[in-house]
Amino acid sequence: MAITGLVLSGFLVVHMLGNLQVFLGREVMNHYAETLHANQGLLWGARFVLLLSVLLHAWAAVQLTALKAAARPVGYVKPGNVQGTAASRTMMLSGPVIGLFVIGHLLHLTTGTIHPQFVELHAYENLVTGFSNPIASALYIVAMILVGFHLSHGIWSMFQSVGFSHPRYTPLIKKFAAIFSWILIAGFIAVPISVMTGLVRL
Ligand code: HEM
Repeated sequence: MAITGLVLSGFLVVHMLGNLQVFLGREVMNHYAETLHANQGLLWGARFVLLLSVLLHAWAAVQLTALKAAARPVGYVKPGNVQGTAASRTMMLSGPVIGLFVIGHLLHLTTGTIHPQFVELHAYENLVTGFSNPIASALYIVAMILVGFHLSHGIWSMFQSVGFSHPRYTPLIKKFAAIFSWILIAGFIAVPISVMTGLVRL
């Protein structure tokens, strides 16, 4: 779970930085998309690694749920959460919802199936026309907030999984995970917000 989580987080950092090119203008953004698509070997290689990581990550989550159920077959009489944060308690919910978001997102901005003004390889225009729809922008923003919660718990839990836990460093790792996640999410959310406010336009 930790290794596939690391691969997926790495993808998100690259993806967010790629998206920020929308602020450099139409030419730069479209050139970036064209370069990616021109390099089919790299594109399909990355897609394969991503898909494999998502599948293994989900499979590990299913196993973890089964292990937890086996360790505690009888539920607590008084369901209280002494230590868990909201993010940690909702990982098994935020994960599948993010999975559904990714399917919708691919149909929206990669294949254009649910994007009425989609033009192949015109990433800049597709973003601007796509996010001009306030419902689409709102759905993306909500999904990004869920990704933020999922990551902020996932990143620090990744350190626990590989055995790195220390009373002095764990609080620092938690802080790092939260700051890292919310900076990443701010970068993602900046795109729909800039389109809606007219900062980025056709
Ligand atoms: C506001 C946030 C986001 C924006 C504006 C955005 C934008 C885009 C765009 C424009 C593309 C198409 C690129 C192209 O085909 O040239 C794309 C593809 C993709 N995005 Fe996002 N994205 C966002 C968030 C996310 C998140 C949170 C995830 C994962 C959890 C994600 C996963 C993907 C994947 C897997 C692809 C397909 C890459 C491929 O195989 O071609 N995106 N995104």
